[in-house]
Amino acid sequence: MKKVIAGVIVCVALFSAAVVWASATKRLDPGTQMCRIFNQVTLWEGREIFQNSCKTCHFTGNDQGASFIHTESKSMKGWNRVFYKKYPQCAKNGEWDNLSQEQLLLLNDYLFRYAQDAYDPYDASDCG
Ligand code: HEC
Repeated sequence: MKKVIAGVIVCVALFSAAVVWASATKRLDPGTQMCRIFNQVTLWEGREIFQNSCKTCHFTGNDQGASFIHTESKSMKGWNRVFYKKYPQCAKNGEWDNLSQEQLLLLNDYLFRYAQDAYDPYDASDCG
């Protein structure tokens, strides 16, 4: 039990560090035209949705014909486009149908936040 608690604390600490590190703190959602503001809780929810609804197929060696996907597979713009256009084959096949609009927005926030171009070492906006 102690090990589990320690593990959870380490995970939360690492996750918080990552959140402080990266640059983007909000996103204009092209579909709803809403400004989405992230925090640790909403990003964590997005991560859970990704793990439970997307990584079930998109892991290395799966038998669904799905490519390995992680947050850095696309740019921030690229992820917005995925959810705005819903062009992937799996979205068209109805694999996303069990997700609500709010869940898709949380998922898009998470993927955007950790996208391949999300951390800009020359952006000083993290300095506060
Ligand atoms: C039932 C399996 C399955 C699930 C669940 C699934 N996908 Fe897919 N997805 C596929 C397959 C198969 C393809 C087409 C082959 C490919 O390009 O990976 C695909 C394609 C994609 C692509 C295009 C690939 C690329 O590189 O542009 C993206 C993006 C994508 N999926 C994202 C998602 C997201 C986000 C979720 C979760 C909401 C998800 N997928 C859930 C099977 C799945």
